[in-house]
Amino acid sequence: MSGRNKITVVGAGNVGATAAHWIASKELADVVLVDITEGMPQGKSLDLAQAAPIDGFDVKLVGSNGYEETADSDIVIITAGLPRKPGMSRDDLLKTNSDIVGAVTEQVAKYSPNAIIIVVSNPLDAMTQVSFRKSGFPKNRVIGMAGVLDSARMRCFIAEELKVSVENVTAFVLGGHGDTMVPLPRYSTVAGIPITELIPEARLNEIVKRTANGGAEIVGLLKTGSAYYAPSLAAVEMAEAILKDKKKILPCAVFLEGEYGINNLFVGVPVKLGKNGVEQIIEISLTNDERAALQKSAAAVQELIDVLKI
Ligand SMILES: NC(=O)c1ccc[n+]([C@@H]2O[C@H](COP(=O)([O-])OP(=O)(O)OC[C@H]3O[C@@H](n4cnc5c(N)ncnc54)[C@H](O)[C@@H]3O)[C@@H](O)[C@H]2O)c1
Repeated sequence: MSGRNKITVVGAGNVGATAAHWIASKELADVVLVDITEGMPQGKSLDLAQAAPIDGFDVKLVGSNGYEETADSDIVIITAGLPRKPGMSRDDLLKTNSDIVGAVTEQVAKYSPNAIIIVVSNPLDAMTQVSFRKSGFPKNRVIGMAGVLDSARMRCFIAEELKVSVENVTAFVLGGHGDTMVPLPRYSTVAGIPITELIPEARLNEIVKRTANGGAEIVGLLKTGSAYYAPSLAAVEMAEAILKDKKKILPCAVFLEGEYGINNLFVGVPVKLGKNGVEQIIEISLTNDERAALQKSAAAVQELIDVLKI
């Protein structure tokens, strides 16, 4: 036991291993990397531990195929899952990943009953709901990562468009993770100036479209996998906000009970993250069009929940 915080990352594939890398290089917490593949999480942890003297981070890194090592984690990031295989329908994948995330969550909840869970596995909003139901944790302790990534993509494109620092750009994205996400240009700013005043509408629509298509664009380029540098850092930003009790406002998938007119469903909205996980759900006023787009996005998530019957 060290005096540091402890983060378990389940799934030591691209997203999981890169999350471990970011956590270590930020010296945020000790890391336990868990995967079903024998030797792989152990090998990646050992490799990363050997980078410590070079970068100068003092955190403990452990790889495991079980959960004993994960006991009493402060945060658990779940990235376990399978990509779609040839011949597999979206519903098949939904059920397979739901079984994986469900089984992982049971172990996580058993060994770390007080942890805060951050789900990354896709389909994101539905998998977060699976983890919420399986863990039995209160809703403030099960959070899905999508909005931080989606808004980072939009910020990246806006900064590129206006040739300004990414640090000057904020972007606002609501809704489920996927084609139906709802980027909100009028709440997106450059040094406080709404981007609607800086970028012509037609060009802005292209940026919004590229943001919603952000994951697919990278899959199209990589061909053998999906994005992982930005997704893993997005999950780590959420973990950092919690561990440091920053009260940071970030778009996250959280369980809504009437907020935005949505009930019993995980959907992406702005929340305040602090030591208790989700400390506040922030409701902003939406135009009729924005509200309709959010409802459509929630309906797409609800369809998956109906298939899973959870
Ligand atoms: N929410 C988002 O914005 C976002 C972004 C990127 C990726 N993702 C999702 O994150 C997940 C991981 O992506 P990746 O690129 O790291 O995939 P990957 O295939 O590289 O890694 C997944 C890992 O999960 C492991 N795994 C499978 N079943 C397991 C189980 N029962 N217990 C423990 N580990 C198990 C696999 O062995 C593999 O190493 C995918 O579902 C992907 O779609 C989500």
